[in-house]
Amino acid sequence: MKQTLLLLPGDGIGPEVTAEARRVAETIAPDLKIEEGLVGGAALDAHGVPLTDETLGRALASDAVLMGAVGGPKWAGVARDKRPEMGLLTLRKQMDVFANLRPAFCFPALVDASSLKHEVVDGLNLMIVRELTSGVYFGQPRGIDETSGVRRGYDTAVYTHPEIERVARVAFDIARGRTGNVCSVEKSNVMDSGLFWRQEVTLAHAEFGAGVELSHMLADSCAMELVRAPKQFDVILADNLFGDILSDEAAMLTGSIGMLPSASLGAPGTPGLYEPVHGSAPDIAGQGIANPCAAILSLEMALRWSLGREKLADMLFAAVGKALDRGARTKDLGGELSTRDMADAILAAL
Ligand code: IPM
Ligand code: MG
Repeated sequence: MKQTLLLLPGDGIGPEVTAEARRVAETIAPDLKIEEGLVGGAALDAHGVPLTDETLGRALASDAVLMGAVGGPKWAGVARDKRPEMGLLTLRKQMDVFANLRPAFCFPALVDASSLKHEVVDGLNLMIVRELTSGVYFGQPRGIDETSGVRRGYDTAVYTHPEIERVARVAFDIARGRTGNVCSVEKSNVMDSGLFWRQEVTLAHAEFGAGVELSHMLADSCAMELVRAPKQFDVILADNLFGDILSDEAAMLTGSIGMLPSASLGAPGTPGLYEPVHGSAPDIAGQGIANPCAAILSLEMALRWSLGREKLADMLFAAVGKALDRGARTKDLGGELSTRDMADAILAAL
């Protein structure tokens, strides 16, 4: 049976960059069945909800889902449960893709695009493993209300034993294929859920962490260390919220958030969800100048992690590096190429 890749272009620059990823997929894996659906503001405009049951059903039935981006000022005033971001969060939750892999690597040709010194980022290659389907993003109760005449807003940061254990195991497995170091990040000095996180990761390490060296760091220190000496890290394991923040920071170490892909994985045999780390970038949407590399590299991760095509993935990764070596640059990288021309440069390098 043909493998199915579901594209969910979404909003802002999402459609522009996923169109290029689609072209690359059609070129290098012509046997893939590619489908498209709506998510985020695009789905809200068409169907009144940011994710329809039908689209969710197709995502669950596919082999991999490649998302563009969601959100934008157009939907700023929409109720929280209808916001474009809810489409993405529901997709993550319903697909149960609990382990979000966010690599931050510096292509040699782009070392000088970073705002940090050459020697600090040259050769940088780290992986953030972010828990994606629990924590403060989903914890109950949450709300904005009034008690005793005082308005308040609140969220709940909660993790269970199985939720931490399963994502920690993914981090250990990934570290074994790298240099074998995992740094787990939390705020155990102020949060009970953070202390629990540290205890559970330590237990999981004793049981499943053979060959892996585990260290712990407070999230604020990690934020500092990431800009001071990022190459000390190999795999960083973090909860949903700290992983969100630290992955944006790590992305900028590499020069442009327009370069970085992500993979969100669930249990083996279930479809993965792949998305660029950049958002919908409404300020440049529709101009054809967005960097398609993160979307194309998200396709690369889908080929590797969900579609069992490591060789193709290696080729595609190398082609992106080669296109950059040859000087191909979109605006965010200080160049002039359009979204389409950048993708053409990658296709030519293939
Ligand atoms: C991300 C984004 C999302 C998140 C938003 C769009 C809901 O920032 O994927 O990092 O907070 O998880
Ligand atoms: Mg984020």
